[in-house]
Formats: sequence, structure tokens, C-alpha cells
Amino acid sequence: MMFDGLLLGDGCVYLRRLLLLFCWPLVLLLFCVTSCLLWLIRHFSSCVFAPLFVSPLFIHSSASTMASAARTASRAFLRSTPATSSFRPAARSARFTLPSQAFRSSRRGYSTEAPEQGKSSNGLLWAGLAAAGGAGAYFYLKGGDASAKNFVPQQKDYQAVYDEVARKLADETDYDDGSYGPVILRLAWHASGTYDKETGTGGSNGATMRFAPESDHGANAGLKVARDFLEPIKAKFPWITHSDLWTLAGVAAIQELGGPAIPWRPGRQDKDVAACTPDGRLPDGSKSHGHIRDVFYRMGFNDQEIVALIGAHALGRAHADRSGFDGPWDFSPTVFTNEFFRLLVEESWNKKKWNGPEQFTDKSTQTLMMLPTDIALVKDKEFKKHVERYAKDNDVFFKEFSDAFVKLLELGVPFASKAEDRFVLKASE
Ligand code: HEM
Repeated sequence: MMFDGLLLGDGCVYLRRLLLLFCWPLVLLLFCVTSCLLWLIRHFSSCVFAPLFVSPLFIHSSASTMASAARTASRAFLRSTPATSSFRPAARSARFTLPSQAFRSSRRGYSTEAPEQGKSSNGLLWAGLAAAGGAGAYFYLKGGDASAKNFVPQQKDYQAVYDEVARKLADETDYDDGSYGPVILRLAWHASGTYDKETGTGGSNGATMRFAPESDHGANAGLKVARDFLEPIKAKFPWITHSDLWTLAGVAAIQELGGPAIPWRPGRQDKDVAACTPDGRLPDGSKSHGHIRDVFYRMGFNDQEIVALIGAHALGRAHADRSGFDGPWDFSPTVFTNEFFRLLVEESWNKKKWNGPEQFTDKSTQTLMMLPTDIALVKDKEFKKHVERYAKDNDVFFKEFSDAFVKLLELGVPFASKAEDRFVLKASE
């Protein structure tokens, strides 16, 4: 034990008691001064030097309770610091290199010489400093941890996340038709579309698709691509939950690909594997109108909202190795438009002759496709009404899609904020 080594080299119990008696006021004083100094450093410097200063002292402090508390705080601090933060390596190297040197030299002095009276008080001073430093470090790091916990992200912080998603979408064009946007939108929809209004289970609050079995559900095939795309952004902004990130990224995908503004608000919490939803809650493209209604009514949508939402098939494509279906719905799969509805109404759609699940292809070019559930939207009278409205008027589609999509992303989320607190994240220029 360091204190013992420093103070009790001669094993004199009486002297130890005496020294301990006089040492506490000094320790207390040093503790206060050091804490103040650390507080000042923390608030007036950019937090780079403080850990270098305090870590050596508390890591090797032999006041075991304090040291372990300090280490806990330190670990929590390191955990709460982004892996990419330039601060993290500094904190780490300070923890593991500087302390040993500082401590080694002081210990060497005492291992070769018998402690004298004067040196003992010198030791006392060191011990006091170590204790005070350790305590200071504890409060410094506790403070850092507390402030990370108390960090309340503002709209500008979510905008920074949005900008990062938008930048990554713009940079990484070597995928599918040139954008990860469609598959990210599909991730946001599948994370939300598991909601069951009767039981209040499922929905975007939880991001349980991170776990098997939900990640392995047939309907979610291919969505690992989208989850992996967003992981570096989650690492860069560790304060955002996966649930908020996935929905925000869905909003970014729509807006960045030319779709309507989607008001959004944060407040979702991630849940663990126990909250995974059972397989079968998402729609099956090979079915018809009855199945579509079953699935979407379970979430609380009406016919008009159902049709508006499926208009998202203007984006992206089906992949034979994911769903079994194959091909894009229109000629501009990376631009959000009402083309899906226009083509549904204006094109002739025939069953595709191929060795795959039933799907439809356009008579004109035989390069586009529709799912049986898409065709159901023009076979069913109630649905068709809305298909025709949207085919005619892009603005009406944009408005009604936006409203329905906001609702989809918020199903089952116990927000503390009000609907009026939603904000529109600014799309990139
Ligand atoms: C009856 C309802 C729906 C059915 C049966 C359905 C089915 C499908 C299927 C089978 C795929 C192809 C997946 C693949 O092979 O990669 C797909 C893709 C897609 N779906 Fe849906 N979907 C429905 C509703 C929706 C809704 C409500 C949205 C969004 C609001 C949406 C957005 C998308 C997008 C953006 C893609 C393209 C993904 C990509 O390019 O990777 N879908 N959908």
C-alpha cells in the first residue's frame, strides 16, 4: 500500500497515528485546492490537459475506495467518449503511460532509503496530493460523466446527424442504382411497421431489428446493408439511439432523394432482444388487398394512408437474392416522385414469365416490375381512388405521404415532447 510505504517505513504505530491526525486537515485543504484547480481546468480549457494531470495521481492512489471509484468514473468516461474522438486516445495514453512514470520515481526513492522525519512529512505531502488528486480526478471525471449523461441534444445536434447521413449518401454512390437511400428508407419502414396497436408492441421505439431473430425474419432480408451503413454514424454520435437514428436516416433518405419534407422528433429508446417482434408482422408482396388491410389496419392506418405509404415504391428495387422479386418499379429509382402511381394507372401490367415468384412487368419495356400487392392497389376500388389522385397530382401525394410517414415513424413511441415540437431537418443543397 502506497500510504503505508510512504508513512510507515519504520512501522511506528504511534507516529502513524500522530501523522494521520495532522495529515487530514492538510489532505482536506489539498483536496479542495485540487478540486478547484480541476474545475477551473475543466471549464476553461478544452479538456485536453486535465486528464493528463489528474490520471497519474488517482490511478496509483492507494486509497483503494477512492481509486476504484475514480477508475469506474474513468471507464465510464472513456466509454462515453466516442471512439473516433481525438480526446479518447489522449485520455487513454495519459492513463497508462504517464502515471507509471510519475509513480515509479517516487517509489524508487523510498525503496533505497530509510524514511526520515523530514521525508516522512514529504511523503505525507505526496500522499495528501495523491489523495486530493484522486478525489479531484473522481469529481472531475464524475462531472464529465454527469455532463455526458445530462447532454440534451438540440435540433442542431440532430441536424449534424442528418448532415452526416446526407454526406454519406452523396459520397457512397457505388451501390445498386447509385444510392443507399432506398434501402435506408426500407429499414426505417420495417423498423416501424411491426407495430401492433392492440398490444402496443413493435414500432420504431426499440430498434430491435439489431437482434436475431428479428434481423433474420424473411421480410428483413437485405437490411443489414442499411444497418451497417448507419453504424459509423452511430459511432460518431453515440448519444443518439439506434431507434432515433434509423428513423432520422429514413427521413434523410426521402428528403435527399427529392421527396417531401418530413417533420421529425426524437425520443425513441433502444430496447433489448426480449422486445423483438414475432415474424409475420410485415406485409408479404405475394398477397392481395385483404392481407394489405390486415397488416396496415393492425398498425392503425386507413386506406388512403396505406396507398400513400406504398408510393415509396417509386424508390429502389426488388432483389432476387433478398425477397425473390426482381427489378425497379420505375425508371428513376433514386428520385422520389409519384411515378409509381402514374405507371400503375397508365401502363399495362402483365405477369412476368420467369422462374420466380409471381410478379408483373410493364408491357412497353418489360424492364419494370410490380408486386402482386402493388397491383392490388388498382384492383381494389377503394385503394384505386387514391392511386388515381396521386397519379394526377404530385403535390397531393407528397403532402399525404409526408403525413402518413410521420405517423408510421411515431407508432408506439412514448414521446415526452408534443407533436408541435417536431422539426424539419434541412436537406442538403
Ligand atoms: C403492402 C406493403 C408492402 C409490401 C408487400 C412491400 C414489399 C417490398 C418488397 C418485396 C421489396 C423488395 C425488397 C428487396 O428484394 O430488396 C420492397 C422494397 C422496398 N420497399 Fe416495400 N413493401 C410494402 C410497403 C412499403 C412501404 C410502406 C414503404 C415505405 C414507406 C416501402 C418502401 C420500400 C423501398 C424504399 C424499397 C426498395 C428497397 C431497396 O431498393 O433496397 N415499402 N418492398
